[in-house]
Amino acid sequence: MSASFTLVDHPLIQHKLTILRQKSTATAQFRQVMREIAFVLGCEVTKDLALGEKEIETPLEKGAFPYLQGKKLCFVSILRAGNGFLDGLLDLVPSARVGHVGIYRNPETLEAVRYYFKVPDALGERQIVLVDPMLATGGTAIAAAHELKQNGARQIKFMCLVAAPEGVEALSAAHPDIPIIAAALDRRLNDHGYIVPGLGDAGDRMYGTKG
Ligand code: URA
Repeated sequence: MSASFTLVDHPLIQHKLTILRQKSTATAQFRQVMREIAFVLGCEVTKDLALGEKEIETPLEKGAFPYLQGKKLCFVSILRAGNGFLDGLLDLVPSARVGHVGIYRNPETLEAVRYYFKVPDALGERQIVLVDPMLATGGTAIAAAHELKQNGARQIKFMCLVAAPEGVEALSAAHPDIPIIAAALDRRLNDHGYIVPGLGDAGDRMYGTKG
């Protein structure tokens, strides 16, 4: 199976992404707009959730109506920038479970090292949406998906804001079963691993930890 890449070019997302790209956007607005984009991107990510029918009674008559009936959703944030998506996704699906994965790259061996992993049980029975706003080299997303699969996950989608072609290629090659959903496919990575034109360091911009 080869991975699919979906670019969500909804005008609201594109407009909001420009606000995030803009250097002068302040921390509080950055977080708020991330939340709003997550909600709209989440609509795309969840558009194939399985529906069944439920017998209910409206004020006028009884009938069978669409009702979610598939796998339970679980959002998994790659720390720390992935957390910026969680509020918007939980606005959309308040009953979803949430997991967190922390991974860093050992500067000497360049190996991905897991420093935090907390996820709900029965991962194999859940539709997992792994989230990180920036898909740069793909190294962290690849390692996080690997950890999830090692813990039983079978159905994973990856949702990001801005992707670099290098990251899409690497993640698709490592996990061809994981569809990638993004709001933008930017030009390239620079020599420091930043996406160009990008929006800078998403974590720093969200939490005001630089400058
Ligand atoms: N992570 C970020 O936050 N920004 C980039 O441009 C690349 C990785």
